[in-house]
Amino acid sequence: MTQEKMQAQQLRFESVLEQQLSYRTNTPKRLHEAICYSALDGGKRIRPLLVYAAGEAVGVAQELLDIPAVAIELIHVYSLIHDDLPAMDDDDLRRGKPSNHKAFDEATAILAGDALQAMAFNLLATSPLFDVSAETRLTLIHELSQAAGIAGMVGGQAIDLDSVDKTLSLSELENMHRCKTGALIRASVLMPAYCSSQVTPEQIKQLEHFADCIGLAFQVQDDILDIESDTETLGKMQGSDIAANKPTYPSIIGLEASKKKLVTLYDEAISSLETFGNSVQSLQELAEFIVKRSK
Ligand code: IPE
Ligand code: IPE
Ligand code: MG
Ligand code: MG
Ligand code: MG
Repeated sequence: MTQEKMQAQQLRFESVLEQQLSYRTNTPKRLHEAICYSALDGGKRIRPLLVYAAGEAVGVAQELLDIPAVAIELIHVYSLIHDDLPAMDDDDLRRGKPSNHKAFDEATAILAGDALQAMAFNLLATSPLFDVSAETRLTLIHELSQAAGIAGMVGGQAIDLDSVDKTLSLSELENMHRCKTGALIRASVLMPAYCSSQVTPEQIKQLEHFADCIGLAFQVQDDILDIESDTETLGKMQGSDIAANKPTYPSIIGLEASKKKLVTLYDEAISSLETFGNSVQSLQELAEFIVKRSK
């Protein structure tokens, strides 16, 4: 995706998200501030961009996908707030500013995450902007809850925390990455497909395979950047994985093999979309961004 197109989409998403997070009277102001602090004005918005790009691939309009895009980003932001807590990764910097529990306090950070998660499902269930059948709403709620929960992100986080100071086998590491990061990326690509009236079961399989490859690639690159990038560029503490003795791709197979793995995953992702034609251009460009990104 050209940098201009990406920036335009990020900007557009920013205002959609801001609108959805606008303050409602009768809700606690400080909690609302904590939510906006972490959700707005920061982050690459890669999951929302994937939602829109997958929509392009299967003929679903951007406007119809605003709510699924917001929902997945809200789950992601909640996962980041909780991931930084002292009980988890204990990181003080996120998206270039103090982590939520540092800017507010631990209890507020926990509650902000909880509220974000509930809000994501509430939007999918009730938002009038998401003008689809009740059945489609339910399908997306199913998909996102699966990806967010014990079989997805939360399960992966549990494996991650349980793996500190341990050596994982490559397949255990891959499973952890597929759960903690891959699952939400997979949901970003599949939710639009479930909103499409033209997608074939074969195409859904191809999109699934694409998403599985880029989802794993995303966390492999995150692990590499923890070593090779710097705190300023990342907006989060460089070297955090090593300091916490976390099993990562580079720690298990080495930096060079991790980079080769990225290329293999990218090639596999691209070839899984071969039969789609031009409509997958944005997905292809995002796949490239995921493996080449510097933050
Ligand atoms: C960071 O995700 C956490 C992982 C799942 C590796 P991103 O790299 O997408 O973080 P933001 O949203 O851009 O801050
Ligand atoms: C994060 O993995 C996965 C999440 C579900 C948030 P990391 O712990 O590697 O993410 P960063 O590096 O802190 O962003
Ligand atoms: Mg973590
Ligand atoms: Mg972390
Ligand atoms: Mg990381």
